[in-house]
Amino acid sequence: MRQPLIAGNWKMNGTRASAEALIQGVIAGSTGMNQADIAVCVPFVFLELSQRLLSGASIHLGAQNVCTEASGAYTGEISATMLNEFGCRYVICGHSERRDYYGETDVIVAKKLAMVMSAGMTPILCVGETLEQREQGFMETVIARQIDAIIAANGIASFAQLEIAYEPVWAIGTGKTATPEQAQEVHAFIRTRLSERDAAIGATVRILYGGSMKPSNAAELLAMPDIDGGLIGGASLVADDFLAICQAG
Ligand code: G3P
Repeated sequence: MRQPLIAGNWKMNGTRASAEALIQGVIAGSTGMNQADIAVCVPFVFLELSQRLLSGASIHLGAQNVCTEASGAYTGEISATMLNEFGCRYVICGHSERRDYYGETDVIVAKKLAMVMSAGMTPILCVGETLEQREQGFMETVIARQIDAIIAANGIASFAQLEIAYEPVWAIGTGKTATPEQAQEVHAFIRTRLSERDAAIGATVRILYGGSMKPSNAAELLAMPDIDGGLIGGASLVADDFLAICQAG
């Protein structure tokens, strides 16, 4: 049985004061909660604060992006080594917003995954289709392409060191959540595709769902056999809502 992981993706939100209050609220509310592994993926500027606040807590720290390169003349970038130094355990890679807004290709995402793993952290690989791709019947084609590109670049064994997040682009930030059956179908497709190459990896890799997961729908989504947690956007910005999802895990 795979222990669920509930990871909050704060995206570009918050102030120093709100970040501190949110983390303190999550720490206080998660005491004794063991249904799921819990993580908060914060903006880079809150990493030092978060690392200090989370010291000794069972909540894991994460980041939302990383440079494809180890170090050097890459203005504005943050390296995997830097993230590890600030206590990150997880790093979100290939979020659809970065693929869409910043042109991150499967090749770039594969490089980021490798940098994160080489620095001793766990990447969260985001995959997902747009509404147009789903409506045209290309969901499996898109997901297969995204998964196969990582296998080609980093090898099937790399999937033993990462988490996957299925995030239907059409459900992100829209309030239009995939039904449990829709999400389960894609999660099972991903697991089967990996199992065909390595049965042990297919059985053990955690596949999170992301896309308008809320306290009201978390339990039914997390009850699906191949949904192993959530990558939470909006609801992670409210401690009580995020904790309610963690409780449902
Ligand atoms: O990475 C998680 C995020 O894309 C989901 O956002 O606001 O739909 O929960 P949201």
